[in-house]
Amino acid sequence: MKNNINRKNVVLIGFMGTGKSTLGRQLARKIGYDFIDTDLAIEEVTGKTVEKIFRKDGPIRFRSEENLLARKLSARSGLVIATGGGMVLNSENVRLLQQNGVLIGLKADPEIILNRVRNKRRRPLLRRGNLRENVERLLREREGAYDMAEFTIDTGKLSFGEALNEIHKYLKRKGHVQ
Ligand code: S3P
Repeated sequence: MKNNINRKNVVLIGFMGTGKSTLGRQLARKIGYDFIDTDLAIEEVTGKTVEKIFRKDGPIRFRSEENLLARKLSARSGLVIATGGGMVLNSENVRLLQQNGVLIGLKADPEIILNRVRNKRRRPLLRRGNLRENVERLLREREGAYDMAEFTIDTGKLSFGEALNEIHKYLKRKGHVQ
């Protein structure tokens, strides 16, 4: 049996469309951790889609759900957590997630992100207006916002398998996983 106490959470952070959910799910499978996608967890708790929370209750409500979730998750271990792209804009969330977690950054060039977020109905911040303009503006506004990650990979320059391996290798090197 693995000792749960030492199994720090692996927290994937980064902009929308950088691959947090897809990679996170596979990484969890690979290292035998449970997987949490914060957007899905919030949808479960509230019984509403992220899109509906933004539309009906507003962004502040969504951010407060994220904060509540960060508090809950900071008390757990052995999780791979794929965060929503805005989760770490709140410094308290960063502190909470770092408490028992390793923050891994995912990034990609704007063109790659654009291609990956074409299904914008799921993403309230990208719904209105011009998709390219929205992505470029948010990327500018959030420049440096994910820099607290202790290790970052560019998912646009690696294949899915390579990205997975890079993260796994890093976690092994640091002694977080076997
Ligand atoms: C957001 C990113 C989304 C989701 C919400 C807000 C953001 O998650 O949490 O639409 O502020 O960047 P993904 O990064 O999984 O798309």
